[in-house]
Amino acid sequence: MTRTVYVNGQYLPETEAKVSIFDRGFLMADAVYEVTSVLDGKLIDFEGHAVRLKRSLDELDMAAPCSKEELLEIHRKLVELNGIEEGLIYLQVTRGSDGDRNFVFPSDDIRPTIVLFTQNKPGLADSPAARKGAKVISIEDIRWGRRDIKTVQLLYPSMGKMMAKNAGADDAWMIEDGYVTEGTSNNAYFVKSGKIVTRPLSTDILHGITRKAVLRMAAEAQMEVEERLFTIDEAKEADEAFTTSASAFVMPVVEIDGVQLGDGTPGPIAKRLREIYLDESLKAAI
Ligand code: PDD
Repeated sequence: MTRTVYVNGQYLPETEAKVSIFDRGFLMADAVYEVTSVLDGKLIDFEGHAVRLKRSLDELDMAAPCSKEELLEIHRKLVELNGIEEGLIYLQVTRGSDGDRNFVFPSDDIRPTIVLFTQNKPGLADSPAARKGAKVISIEDIRWGRRDIKTVQLLYPSMGKMMAKNAGADDAWMIEDGYVTEGTSNNAYFVKSGKIVTRPLSTDILHGITRKAVLRMAAEAQMEVEERLFTIDEAKEADEAFTTSASAFVMPVVEIDGVQLGDGTPGPIAKRLREIYLDESLKAAI
């Protein structure tokens, strides 16, 4: 089925959607993005994604393409037009195009480019991958220093996923100065003696929208959470581990660098948090 996508104010068949070859998103990765999940045809944590998008735009001195209300309307319309029950909405905003290639930002009268499209993913919530748990490897983190801004510079995360795939694993956790930063497209956690440990927020990691919700729900469920730096060796000795992201919610991790965690199946805390997250998020979905 041909998707209907959104480009700069128009809803178009995906085959007819066009962006300039001079667009700075294409030439310079001068662009930011968000991924919002859809469950039961409704948006999960739209508010969180809209707020982070605004922050990313502000940090890069990039103009907002439209208001939050308009953004919500576009998300909802795409869900409806494409009949999405479970899936994802990808949103990208670029600084736009001034009709040439320049390192210097174009003048302020350049209009940002905005593109949104849906990804239909039946079975996103009841995922076989989550029932099995993920195997991760560790790799060096060589990304730029502003990982708190959700830019489209995804070449290294993409290479990291390939390194994992080639090693027979599902994903990679990245390490900088001896400490785990995050997964290639998710935030990373381990659990030891009932305590959930994850890296604190800084410019070193993306401030995950799912992370924020999951940590709040963990606290509400009287789970102990510690935000501190941790090494991959600590994670390998953990009782269980997991990641969080808008595209996979809470994903149990059952193996790190070939070392099995616990009995090699998803741990009870990760499973419980996944249930709570899906339950609560669905109730709050709009
Ligand atoms: N990735 N860290 C990184 C590096 C990410 O790319 C992501 C999200 C996260 C989790 O953030 P959130 O909970 O807001 O999704 C953490 C998205 C899903 C992606 O690139 O597809």
